[in-house]
Amino acid sequence: MSISIGIHDLSFATGQFVLPHTALADHNGTEIGKYHVGIGQESMSVPAADEDIVTLGAAAAAPIIARHGTDRIRTVVFATESSIDQAKAAGVYVHSLIGLGSATRVVELKQACYGATAALQFAIGLVRRDPAQEVLVIASDVSKYELESPGEATQGAAAVAMLVATNPALVRIEDPSGLFTADVMDFWRPNYRDAALVDGQESIGAYLQAVEGTWKDYAEQDGRRLEEFAAFCYHQPFTKMAYKAHRHLLNYCGYDTDNDDITRAVGQTTAYNTVIGNSYTASVYLGLAALLDQADDLSGRPVAFLSYGSGSVAEFFAGTVVAGYREHLRTKANREAIEGRTPVDYAGYRELHEWTFPTDGGDHATPEQTTGPFRLAGISGHKRIYQTR
Ligand code: HMG
Repeated sequence: MSISIGIHDLSFATGQFVLPHTALADHNGTEIGKYHVGIGQESMSVPAADEDIVTLGAAAAAPIIARHGTDRIRTVVFATESSIDQAKAAGVYVHSLIGLGSATRVVELKQACYGATAALQFAIGLVRRDPAQEVLVIASDVSKYELESPGEATQGAAAVAMLVATNPALVRIEDPSGLFTADVMDFWRPNYRDAALVDGQESIGAYLQAVEGTWKDYAEQDGRRLEEFAAFCYHQPFTKMAYKAHRHLLNYCGYDTDNDDITRAVGQTTAYNTVIGNSYTASVYLGLAALLDQADDLSGRPVAFLSYGSGSVAEFFAGTVVAGYREHLRTKANREAIEGRTPVDYAGYRELHEWTFPTDGGDHATPEQTTGPFRLAGISGHKRIYQTR
């Protein structure tokens, strides 16, 4: 009998500030319906100057360590596409901030928004090989597009931490997976750039191609039938994309696309992403958190996941929600992470958007802004300095 492996715990953190889309619309003259209805976004998380993917990742992981301890964690896989160093894995800073032991392997993974799903699958492989181990998967990203660009309204920031273990308390991840890779230039960020480049309409088309490709492979691998799934967690660069993706999948499978059916399948996965914005690698797992926090009892029900990363790589897979999962949710903390953000006006957001460290190797302190458990205190001699608050 194969052992049961999956997501044993899930916790997330988001940025200190929040910019409502009404403020962005007031600034750029966009009809607010385009944001609220057209792309399905209400607000975006904006990191403080003393926050980054490390502080967000550590803040997401710390509650997991508080609940489960560090003894069984021998691997940390940190997925991001907004990396802060070309050589050192961001997870090594997190390893130190959350007090993991030295007998740990830590590595960073990248493939746009898909990276966390690769991390989850690699974690499952490691746990299958040694069921006594737990793997900490951290997906952490700050999504940044140029000011006044079409992508600006889809920015966001968040980190999700997941503990992968045998006999998981939340979701058992199943075989098979449907896989899809295509070499496309829909969204990318050359090493010399801070903000991503994107061909918006091409990226939507590439995503929908990947929906088809992953489902085709999933069906060929003898996966579940579409009707079996209680809900679908899609990668959500903006929440309307989940609706577009599910409509496309239903059409591809020969079904009529009834709006109520689509809302039933994806509606409860969008609550966090609609107020946080695109969190790249974390997005699909914020979708899972929102679903588990809001849905009627899903015990024993299969949930579908569609993870898409531009460039592009995608994976469709299933997880079964474990009986008793509700006792292990972090619904209150999740709500507090969102409601605890400080509203920022357009001028304040713009200042944070343009904030960068000088690259002269000098000592540069950050302003104290975050109320989170960890902060990026500054940079000195090209070294980032983190603090526990
Ligand atoms: P745009 O081109 O400015 O917007 O930016 P639009 O003109 O396409 O309008 C958007 C929607 O709003 C349309 O609906 C309009 O009809 C509607 P649709 O036709 O799509 O159903 N609309 C209105 N609705 C109600 N009231 C109104 C109104 N006005 C218009 N008054 C775009 C949209 C998504 C292209 C832009 O935000 C963008 O470039 N975003 C970044 C790229 C992106 O998110 N791509 C998604 C797929 S790729 C992906 O998911 C990967 C990614 O996460 C990165 C990674 O993998 O690392 C991005």
